[in-house]
Amino acid sequence: MSLLSKTLVAASCSVILGTAFISTQVHAEVSDKQAKNAVEFRQSIFQLIRSNIGPLGAMAKGKAPIDEAVIAKNALRIEQLSLMISDYFVLDTRSNDVESGALPKIWDNQSEFTQKADDLTQAAKALQLIVANKDEANYRKGIGAVGATCKACHDDYKAD
Ligand code: HEC
Repeated sequence: MSLLSKTLVAASCSVILGTAFISTQVHAEVSDKQAKNAVEFRQSIFQLIRSNIGPLGAMAKGKAPIDEAVIAKNALRIEQLSLMISDYFVLDTRSNDVESGALPKIWDNQSEFTQKADDLTQAAKALQLIVANKDEANYRKGIGAVGATCKACHDDYKAD
């Protein structure tokens, strides 16, 4: 091998190594694009949760007739959606330039945040049980209990 080609091999090796090094570094932090996607996904979960609790709230307030099938279906969906919350908050977007109502302290208190998501899961399960038992006297209370878990988390972890 000539000196020139040896030099070229050495140079291209260091370029490859250099590239590998840079991409590892970039990988370690969250890009704004990743963060933007993460925010969109988690907000979508909350929008679906909202669309499912909306009709139940109307029933609890007496603005819509009680429909047990809808309560059962939506409470199940809220349970299922609630199970996704903590997963979609694993990505720490605190340092990114993204618009989000998520308060930074979520990532300092991830286990408490997860506990609050679990409170929603439990309230949604309890509501399903109330409806399955046709425990009519507790429909409003069960729906209210689900709503209370939204507020409990928002008070601590969501910007107004
Ligand atoms: C474990 C905490 C937690 C629980 C429980 C919770 N939320 Fe939220 N919610 C948040 C956080 C944090 C945000 C801000 C997300 C963001 O903007 O990145 C949010 C945002 C929202 C949004 C705005 C979404 C958007 O498009 O910007 C709605 C609507 C919402 N929540 C509804 C609800 C309802 C309804 C419930 C209960 C049935 C609920 N949330 C339960 C933490 C929670």
